Amino acid sequence: MDKNSLPKMQPESNAVHYGYIPRLSEYAAVMPTIDSTSYIAKSAEGLERKFAHLRSGKKGELVYSRLAQPNVEVSEGRYAKVFYDSLQEPESILTCSGMEAIALTLDAYLRPGDLVLFNEPLYGGTFGHLKWLEKRYGILLRSFKSAKELKKFDPISDALKLIFLESPTNPTLEEVDIEECAAFAAAHTRERSDGLQTLVAVDNTFMTPYLQKPLLQGAHIEIHSATKYLGGHGDLVAGLLLGEKRYLAPIRALRSQRGGTIDAQRAVRLSKSLETLAMRMERHCENAKQVAWFLSKHSKVQNLRFLGLLDVNSEQFRIHQKQSCGTSGMIAFEVIGGLKAARKFLNKLRMIMLAVSLGATHSLACHPGMTTHSGIETKERKRMGISNNLIRLSVGTENFQDIIADLDQALDSL
Ligand SMILES: Cc1ncc(COP(=O)(O)O)c(C=O)c1O
Repeated sequence: MDKNSLPKMQPESNAVHYGYIPRLSEYAAVMPTIDSTSYIAKSAEGLERKFAHLRSGKKGELVYSRLAQPNVEVSEGRYAKVFYDSLQEPESILTCSGMEAIALTLDAYLRPGDLVLFNEPLYGGTFGHLKWLEKRYGILLRSFKSAKELKKFDPISDALKLIFLESPTNPTLEEVDIEECAAFAAAHTRERSDGLQTLVAVDNTFMTPYLQKPLLQGAHIEIHSATKYLGGHGDLVAGLLLGEKRYLAPIRALRSQRGGTIDAQRAVRLSKSLETLAMRMERHCENAKQVAWFLSKHSKVQNLRFLGLLDVNSEQFRIHQKQSCGTSGMIAFEVIGGLKAARKFLNKLRMIMLAVSLGATHSLACHPGMTTHSGIETKERKRMGISNNLIRLSVGTENFQDIIADLDQALDSL
């Protein structure tokens, strides 16, 4: 069976089959991991040709695994095909971590003096890298809460290069209208005098492209910590970028240059995880709905945030309905009684594990203000709605009654 002999397939089938050619791997039914660092040329001239091909920026030649690797290429091709077949030259790039995917995007596009607009709060690591770029390279930063606020930056100069979004935000689960931000960027691009494009990048980690497709809302670059739902089992660290070839090309070149690629093993595991992503996401969403419903009625819980329980008359509900088709398994809530109560609650959990990260089959809980977002100044954190007693819960795929029972007994101890 050859790639060319495969029929036109739906995304679920492409998630299992696309891009792997058994003939090239001794007809192994499952893609084997190719561990080789380098690839043999048939002659000295052949090796020279391979290098010339690489220098021209084209794909398809294997020389050295930092530059191109067969498992990585199959996995990248599969993610692009499954989620963005309708785009012009859709591509994806795998990286060694989510932070590397974010840093590559920022570093590939930004120059000293450029302005980045971002909605807040952002993941602590992203915020940290932006702050580092500000200090070290004079990148200008300005934050906003909603797409409507972008107008306050108008008229804006050519300095604006990138609008960086997280929707929903981590950990406060606030939505921002991706389409409206993209329309702002498009209008700004038309007004620029330098002929460049005002880019929109979206960290879509919390949703996955299964539940939300920012590139169809007008964004140019979609970023993932593949460590989370895409990997899905809490056993690997990786990043993924999605976008049209023209927007990913500078990022791909920088990845090769500074070595931010992923190894063959993780690339194979990420293509395996893609096979079950839809099933896992459906289960995460359903479990989270049950858990959120339970929490919403508990007397020790306040300020519950869950995308499935938004006020149907709110702007947040309108945005959520427009740009996504599910909630993911993320919930945030405060336990009444401050940090002391939050710590006690977390210490009482038995099945739900006390750890950072999210998106695995196992449920995880943490208090972001004291952990993932502790690098942000207390005053700033407060302004962003990250209180000391805020709990972030990543609802896994276990039986939801077991998750609820564990939360119930821990809340009862307060
Ligand atoms: C929303 C979001 N983006 C990016 C990252 C960074 O990803 P990684 O830990 O894979 O580098 C994280 C990590 O928690 C995250 O939650």
